[in-house]
Amino acid sequence: MSGIIGYVGKKEAYPILIHGLNCFEFRGYDSVGVVTVDKNEFELRKFAGKLAEFKEKNEANQPKGNIGLAHSRWATHGMADENNAHPHVSYSGRLAIVHKGIVENYSSLKEKLIKDGFEFKSDTDSEVLINWIEHIQSKSQKSLQESIQIALNQVVGAYSIIVLDKEENALYAARKGAQLVIGVGAEEEEFIITTDTSPLGGYTSQVIYMEEEDVYRLAPGEKINLLNLDNLQKSPVIEEFEEELHAIEKGDFDHFMLKEIYEQPKAIIDSYRGRMSAVEGWIKLGGITEYRNKLNKAKRIVFAACGTSWHASLVGKYLIEELAGIQVSVEYASEFRYRKPVIGNEDVFVAISQSGETADTIAAIELAKHKQALIYGICNSVGSTISKMSHAGSYTHAGQEIGIASTKAFTSQVVILTLMALQLADYKGNLSKTQLNSILYELEQIPSKVEEILKLDAEVKKIAKVYHQANNFLFLGRGANYPIALEGALKLKEISYIHAEGYPAAEIKHGPIALIDENMPVVVLATNDSAYDKIVSNIQEIKARKGKVIAIVNKGDTVIKEIADHSIEIPKTLELFAPLLSVVPLQLLAYHIAVWRGADVDSPRNLTKSVTVE
Ligand code: M6R
Repeated sequence: MSGIIGYVGKKEAYPILIHGLNCFEFRGYDSVGVVTVDKNEFELRKFAGKLAEFKEKNEANQPKGNIGLAHSRWATHGMADENNAHPHVSYSGRLAIVHKGIVENYSSLKEKLIKDGFEFKSDTDSEVLINWIEHIQSKSQKSLQESIQIALNQVVGAYSIIVLDKEENALYAARKGAQLVIGVGAEEEEFIITTDTSPLGGYTSQVIYMEEEDVYRLAPGEKINLLNLDNLQKSPVIEEFEEELHAIEKGDFDHFMLKEIYEQPKAIIDSYRGRMSAVEGWIKLGGITEYRNKLNKAKRIVFAACGTSWHASLVGKYLIEELAGIQVSVEYASEFRYRKPVIGNEDVFVAISQSGETADTIAAIELAKHKQALIYGICNSVGSTISKMSHAGSYTHAGQEIGIASTKAFTSQVVILTLMALQLADYKGNLSKTQLNSILYELEQIPSKVEEILKLDAEVKKIAKVYHQANNFLFLGRGANYPIALEGALKLKEISYIHAEGYPAAEIKHGPIALIDENMPVVVLATNDSAYDKIVSNIQEIKARKGKVIAIVNKGDTVIKEIADHSIEIPKTLELFAPLLSVVPLQLLAYHIAVWRGADVDSPRNLTKSVTVE
C-alpha cells in the first residue's frame, strides 16, 4: 500500500525522503515520486517503476531544498503511470500533496471544480483533493489550516495527507482511518511526517501519533500548531518510540519472508511471555482481565478480520468453542461492514489485524462499536488505528513483519487466541489446575518444536522443486487444521501465483474431488488428531484418483507414509496446538515453490502489506 512522507527542517530533504521510501518499499507499490522546493519553485520528480531505478535516474541531479514530500503509490484511481504518480500540485501551482487512501466522493468534487474552471492532469482522487482544498481556501479566505479542516469535512473516505505550501514553507498533515505519525526533531527545528515510525530511526525518537481529524501545521522553529475537527487549538502529545532497526535488515536470509518464518520460535515466546506461567498455572491477558465480567457474560464472540488474520480467527473459533464453550462467529470484515449484522451490547467483537490499519476491519469495528459491542483488538503494530479504536486488546509482539505474505504475525495471533481461550475456560471453571498446567507446559514446548520443523527446510525445498510448475494445488485439513489448509493455499497463491484452494478434507467429495487427477498436488494436514482415521480415508480417495499427496504427519507415522507420495514429519503436540506447528511446513513449501519459479517473494505482484482502501 502507498506510503507517504514529508520533511521540513534545515537539512536537505531529498535523502530523508528517499530513506522513507526505502522503508516503505516492502509494502508493495507501482510508482514513486518526490517534490522539494528549490528557490521558491517546486522540483517535481515522478517515476512508474521501482525505487532503485528512480534513485539511479536522479543520482547525479538530486532535487534540492529543505522541505519536501515523497510517495510510493499502489494504484487505486487511474493507471500505475507517471502521470498518476504523486505528489500532485494544485492548479495555481502553490500547493502539493501526497495522499494515502481513497476519496470516495471525488467525482462529485471534481465536477464542481471543473465548473469553477479547474483543470486536471491526472485521473487521481488525490489531485481532486488538493484542488478542493485550494478552492475552499480561495472562497473562504481563511488560513490554509482551517481551509483543510473545512475541505476534509466534505470529503468521504479514509485517508492520510500531507500538504506542502511553498509560499509559507510549511507542511500540513491530517488523517482519518489511516495512520500518520510526526517525528519531532530537537527544539522543534525539524519534522518528519510519515505513514509509520520506520523512517524515523536515526533521526528522532520523539513522536506524535496523530489523532483522527486533527490538522497539523508544521514549520521549522515554530510551535506545533494543531486544530481539531471544530477548529479549536489542541496541544500535541509527544511520546518516545523504540526503534526496531534489525527488522528492516534481511541478515543472512535471501528474503524477509524466510527470515520471518525462522523468527517464529522467538515471536511465539514474545507473544506469551509475561502472560502465563506453566509452573504456577495462570494466564493473564491484560484486556481479558480488565473486562472479565463482560466476557464471562458474553452471549457470543464475533471475530472480524481479513486474509491471514481471518484464518487466525477461525482457529480462535475452534479454540474458544472447544475450551470455553462460548459461541463464536467469524466474519469477513469486508462483508460485515455492509450487512445489517445482529450484534449488540451483550456481544464481544474481536478484531484481528497485523497492521492495525486494514480499512475493512476498521469499518467493521466502527459498526460494531455503534451497536455497542465491546471491542477487543488483536494487533501487531503498536499505536495502530485499530489498537486505538479498541476498548481493550492485546498486542501480538511478533516484531515488525516486512514480507507481504504474513507468517510470524499469524502464529503469534494464534498464540494470543490460545491464551484468550484458556483464560476464558479458566474463568468458567472448565479446566482443572492439572489440566491447565499441562496445557501451558505444552505451549512452552511449541517454540522448540517449531525449531525442529525449521530443520526440515531442505527436505521441503526438494518437494517444492518437484511441484513448482504445477498449475493448481489443493490443501485439505480437518478441525483446527482446516484454517491451516486455507492459510497454506493463501500463502501459495500470494507469492507463487499458482491457483490453490483450501477445503475441509471431508468436503472434497461434494465437488472438488472432480479436480483430482495425476496433475493435482494435494497437501493434506494429517497429524495424529481425533480425525486421523478419517483423514487416512480422504488420502485413499485422492490416491484412488491418482492425485499426488504431500502429507504433513506426526513423527513416527507409518500408515500415511505408506500411501502418500511425500510425508513431512513434524513433532507431536496437543490437538489444540496443531495449527501452530502444521502451518510452518506450508509456509516453507509456498516460499520454496515461489523461489523455484523465480517470483519476487517479498513484493508479490498486485499485493500490498496493509490494505488501507476498501
Ligand atoms: O494487517 P491485516 O492483518 O489486517 O491484513 C489482513 C490481510 O490483508 C493480510 O492478512 C493478507 O491476507 C496477507 N497478505 C496474508 O499473507
